[in-house]
Amino acid sequence: MSLTFLIPSSTIRSSTRKNIKSVIGGQERLDVISRCLLNLARWNNRLGKEIRLFVYLSHNLEQKVLEIPISKKMNTLQSEIDSTHMSIEILANPQEYNADYIDISFKNLLDNLNKKSSIFYLTPNGLLINKQKEISKEDSTLCFILGSQHDLSDEQEEALFNLEYTPTSIGEKNYLASHVITIVCNHLYNLNEG
Ligand SMILES: C[S@@+](CC[C@H](N)C(=O)[O-])C[C@H]1O[C@@H](n2cnc3c(N)ncnc32)[C@H](O)[C@@H]1O
Repeated sequence: MSLTFLIPSSTIRSSTRKNIKSVIGGQERLDVISRCLLNLARWNNRLGKEIRLFVYLSHNLEQKVLEIPISKKMNTLQSEIDSTHMSIEILANPQEYNADYIDISFKNLLDNLNKKSSIFYLTPNGLLINKQKEISKEDSTLCFILGSQHDLSDEQEEALFNLEYTPTSIGEKNYLASHVITIVCNHLYNLNEG
C-alpha cells in the first residue's frame, strides 16, 4: 500500500535562491512544506507504508510537480530548522533525495494519480474520515489532496471535480496543512493497530 499527499503551492519556485533565514522569514511560504516534510518523516517508520509528498508548483512560470519519496534519509530530521534545510536542498538538488521535477499540468497529474489511487480531497466540508471504508482497506493506494497556506484554487478544484474522488473531513475546524497530515496519518495508524 502506498500513501501520497499532494499539495499545490502557487508561491514556491524551483530555482530561486533561498537560505534558512529567508525561508524562516516566509520566502515563498516554503515553511508550509517543510513542516509537512518533518511530520511525514516522523510517520514514515510508524506507518510501514511507502509515503510520497507531491508538491505541485502552480506558479505561472513553473507548472510542475516535485515528487518527494519520504525515505530513511529523512529519519535524521529532528526539528523545523532541519526540515527547512532539507526542503531547500531538495528543491535545489532533488536527485540527492530520489526526488524529481516533472513538467505537467495539474489536471494531467490528477488524471495520472486517479488511474492508480483512490483520491481523497481534504476539506472541512467533506465526509468524516472515520466513516470511510476505502481508507481502511489494507492494500489500498491512497492519495490525499490538500491546500497549502491557501485552499485549492477554483481551477484546481474544477480539475478535481471531474474525477472520482471523496471529499474528506477531519472535523469542522480549519487546520494547518501539516496538522492535517498528522491527523490523517494518526487515523491510518490507529486503523492498522485496531
Ligand atoms: C491552512 S489550510 C488552507 C487555508 C485555510 N482554509 C484558511 O482559511 O486559511 C490547509 C488545507 O488543509 C485542509 N484542511 C484544513 N482543515 C481541514 C479539515 N478540518 N478537514 C479536512 N481538511 C482540512 C484543506 O485542504 C486546506 O486547504
